[in-house]
Amino acid sequence: MKINPLSPIGIFDSGIGGLIIAKEMKIQMPNEDFIYFGDTKNMPYGEKSQEFIRKNSMKIVSFLYKKKCKAIVIACNSIASNALDLIQKKFHKKILIFNVIDPVVKNTIFLSYKKIGIIATPATIHSNFYQKKIKKYYRHIDLVQMSTPLLAPIIENGWEIEKINPIIENYLNHFKSIDAILLACTHYLFLKEKIENFYHGKVHLIDIQKIVVQEIKKKLSKKKLLCLHPIWNRSPIFYTSSSIPFFFEKKVRILFGKKVFFKTHIFNFF
Ligand code: DGL
Repeated sequence: MKINPLSPIGIFDSGIGGLIIAKEMKIQMPNEDFIYFGDTKNMPYGEKSQEFIRKNSMKIVSFLYKKKCKAIVIACNSIASNALDLIQKKFHKKILIFNVIDPVVKNTIFLSYKKIGIIATPATIHSNFYQKKIKKYYRHIDLVQMSTPLLAPIIENGWEIEKINPIIENYLNHFKSIDAILLACTHYLFLKEKIENFYHGKVHLIDIQKIVVQEIKKKLSKKKLLCLHPIWNRSPIFYTSSSIPFFFEKKVRILFGKKVFFKTHIFNFF
């Protein structure tokens, strides 16, 4: 398949979480064209079995690959921690694969922390993916993990912040004596400010989207696949696997404006 710098980047998540990564891509790489896929029919992935996550994420990667993407971004921790090995095995010779975990855990910022807290979906916590990676790279770090199953679905469904606040506070109250916190679910990135305020600046929030997109940009540039000039008449396409949920559309419009396309793609076996 012929790919070149003008080819789009495919990015996917179970829903709105990956939009934060896509937005950061637009900020750091404004010339890039992208195709987004939100598996809204099957959200939350955090509650699914590893088998389900592996099977469904492969379908989405194949879909984006057929759209002639030059790279795929797995903008979901639950998928990266449960299916990255499989996706890499099947696609690494065909297309560049990025995810939201590796660039973060390899970042030297970790050298400055002693105790890190991770909040994530049950699927990510059960995979032990972070634990293995962090122990491998940083023996000195004391890692505490907490599964926060209520958060992703209420963020996806657009609950008002006043209703979300007590739930976050309840979780974070168990999680105090840490130097830094890793929001290991892309949906939680929508709560960044709220979580920062909770800790009154005493706990550092790792800047996931910046680190991840810096890595994507660096690799694309190295492979001479970075798009250096604006492409006229191209607008991002947002696919969903159910008819477009109201809040998904609203978030896309807030982050990317009016010049976007929405499409629904239903996989046969779902
Ligand atoms: N955004 C996904 C993640 O980063 C999870 C949301 C879900 O449970 O579907 O893990």
